[in-house]
Amino acid sequence: MKKTFYITTAIDYVNGSPHLGHAYEKVLTDVIARFRRMMGDNVYFLTGTDEHGQKIQQSARARDVDPKTFVDSVAPEFEEMCARLEISHDDFIRTTESRHKDVVCRLLQQLFDKGEIYKAEYQGYYSTRQEQFLQEKDRNEDGTWPEIFGEVSEITESNYFFKLGAYQQWLIDHIKANADFIFPRYRAKQVLEFLSEPLNDLCISRPRERLEWGIPLPFDPDFVTYVWFDALTNYYSAVADKDGLWPATFHVIGKDILVPPHAVYWPIMLKALELPIPQSILAHGWWSINGAKMSKSTGNFVEPIEFVDQFGVDALRYFLMREMSVGQDSDFSMEQFLVRYNSELANNLGNLVNRTLNMTNRFADAKIPAVDEVGEPETALQATWEKTRDEVIPLFEQFQFNVGLERALQFITATNAYIEQRAPWKLGKSDDPADQALLRTSLATMAEALRLGSSLLLAVTPGSVGKIQGVLGHRMGEVWRDELQWDHRLTGNTVEKTCILFPRPEKKS
Ligand code: MSP
Repeated sequence: MKKTFYITTAIDYVNGSPHLGHAYEKVLTDVIARFRRMMGDNVYFLTGTDEHGQKIQQSARARDVDPKTFVDSVAPEFEEMCARLEISHDDFIRTTESRHKDVVCRLLQQLFDKGEIYKAEYQGYYSTRQEQFLQEKDRNEDGTWPEIFGEVSEITESNYFFKLGAYQQWLIDHIKANADFIFPRYRAKQVLEFLSEPLNDLCISRPRERLEWGIPLPFDPDFVTYVWFDALTNYYSAVADKDGLWPATFHVIGKDILVPPHAVYWPIMLKALELPIPQSILAHGWWSINGAKMSKSTGNFVEPIEFVDQFGVDALRYFLMREMSVGQDSDFSMEQFLVRYNSELANNLGNLVNRTLNMTNRFADAKIPAVDEVGEPETALQATWEKTRDEVIPLFEQFQFNVGLERALQFITATNAYIEQRAPWKLGKSDDPADQALLRTSLATMAEALRLGSSLLLAVTPGSVGKIQGVLGHRMGEVWRDELQWDHRLTGNTVEKTCILFPRPEKKS
């Protein structure tokens, strides 16, 4: 039996509300999940929230509530965002759930029993903001600490350490032997660079007096678990009791958390536990907004839910996938959004839908006619379709959604051009039987092209595609295999009168 395609997102910190970066990662993962389902894979899709650690404890204190009350108030915003973005996840895990905490404790205990975790005294520098111990090599050339570390203090304390170093060579060999382990491939270089220096063992505990909000170590309750050890385990804890899901096929994450957590700590943790490691890690780029870092305090921010309220979920999903080349950074601006919205969605796809419905209603009593006379324009459009389909699927397989969408929309453009060429509105005025035959052919051809072209967008804009197929009187099957043939299966279907997909955006008051 084919292994389940198990895909995950990073789990989001709940110390603030969801933003565009969180939304993008969910949408990207959802598009991959939906695409794989259409390709016939059995998909399991996990997302969730990361709810322990210093940042959360601090945010809760700032609001004068206990951390549990705080996370319980914010986590639903992330679930709500997933619902509004039409994310098709199978499970949503919160790291404060006991099903997760129990597994973290079990794994820690196993590592401790195997001698992979030991206690030692640590003396050195600590960054509270990054929840990380620092080394001399982390300093700036002038001896100060980089700003990202915030306040750095010198501390001495006992802690528990995980023997990362023991598996360094194994990991290097694995990365070198498995070109697909890290996507895009060029990022593997960054991982190997990190691994070119000897790895320090990883401090996986925090003394309780400094940090209370975490999972107590099962073998020493005076300590809580380091938040990354806790968080990474979610990918496994969510499916530990489900047969055939582990290891994950893809972990989708942002480029900032590839090295070291996902590409170094996580595979080594699994190796030490004698568990299989994930097949691949996909690191996406970051969004800026209007050319600058997004920031709530300066107002350079997009509220995903508000955006969906204003423009509709598919407009946002489409833009995110069309604009960003997976792996690279991209910029979000209203101007660029509106250009794509108007020219690609409203005036191209939306227009084809309207024309098809209008003309079928006007000239054929809303019934899609059978093809009659087939000429060069029809043969050419069919050939364009076949070429488009055969290009787009491999592009999607390679996560090149921006290019795949461009090609799919080019086919929609070609269909609109076909309509201009045949001009059914002229044919409809003629009583000549040859013109009537061509009219039937052109109505059938545009409906068929719309059915096929829109079906390629299914993973990206599922709601709109569902609507389009619906107004054509068609219900798509579960997989693409049977859907992408040019075979005029709509003949005789009754179409609806109208379908509003991408209305002219209202100005924000
Ligand atoms: N909690 C950790 C992840 C633990 S995974 C076991 C974390 N959370 S986060 O909320 O800070 O980020 C969640 C995801 O959102 C990360 O993959 C991160 O890269 C992504 N993004 C955060 N800001 C982003 C942009 N501006 N653009 C695109 N994605 C960004 O890290």
